[in-house]
Amino acid sequence: MKHLLKMLDLSENEILELLDLADQLKYELGHGIRHPLLAGKTLGMIFQKASTRTRVSFETGIYQLGGYGLFLSSHDLQIGRGEPVEDTARVLSRYLDGIMIRTFDQEEVETLARVGSIPVINGLTDFCHPCQVLADLMTVREHKGILEGLKMAYIGDGNNMANSLIVGGLKTGMRVAAACPDGYRPAKEVLDFAADFGDAFTLTGDCLEAAAGADVIFTDVWASMGQEGEAEKRRAAFKGYQVNGALLAAANPGCMVQHCLPAHRGEEITAEVFEAHAQEIFDEAENRLHAQKAVMVTLMK
Ligand code: CP
Ligand code: NVA
Repeated sequence: MKHLLKMLDLSENEILELLDLADQLKYELGHGIRHPLLAGKTLGMIFQKASTRTRVSFETGIYQLGGYGLFLSSHDLQIGRGEPVEDTARVLSRYLDGIMIRTFDQEEVETLARVGSIPVINGLTDFCHPCQVLADLMTVREHKGILEGLKMAYIGDGNNMANSLIVGGLKTGMRVAAACPDGYRPAKEVLDFAADFGDAFTLTGDCLEAAAGADVIFTDVWASMGQEGEAEKRRAAFKGYQVNGALLAAANPGCMVQHCLPAHRGEEITAEVFEAHAQEIFDEAENRLHAQKAVMVTLMK
């Protein structure tokens, strides 16, 4: 594994190895054991979109591993004034030991990895959010003890989260059911991948059908970063695509609820369901730290 660009690139084994290492790093941190596995290493963190969790967990994570993180806002970088990503890749490769990038176009991340000579970590694009999904799988496994054989339901927009969850879930042996409205379905590349999994994957317009017998229900915002102008149109399109009590009643007893955050209560999730599952949701947020430390150690050590 040279980069973390999308879940589609990882084998089941690579995913499970990352989750095992993340569990170990979480245990060690909780017991006051710190190994400076990345002492002297620097991670550049390019942000072309806002972030709370990704920024703070990467910056804290690299620090805990003995390295140093540089926050690089596109407002300040020359990339924000049109310097080609290819040149940025070649320059940053001369200074840094790794790059994390949050941007719009997946192709920009792939180019950075192709042209640069250091590991690149995708911190979210319009296409996918692999760091989040590693933390999600870690959290589900932590609570349920296993991934294989569980049913994951995804309710809402066929966006970056849906694309990554479908691939991550299927690769780790989960059954995945996605409920998305027409016109807001997951990416073709992801549906083509899922087509090889037969009955283990279903795509429907019916939230109750997707949630039936689920062990974990995921959702995400109706309008992602960059889609603020479509918020009103999307509110109409996604009406009913909400994680609420009725949906939980159709799921298995003890069904978990996960949300990558930030959440919009009253839209994709009710305040009641959010608060009833807050422990799991904030475990999920915490696990970003541990999962990303595992990614950094694997790629940059
Ligand atoms: N879930 C997530 O990536 O959060 P941020 O946008 O705050 O980084
Ligand atoms: N789908 C959301 C996820 C945020 C972490 C977005 O892209 O804005």
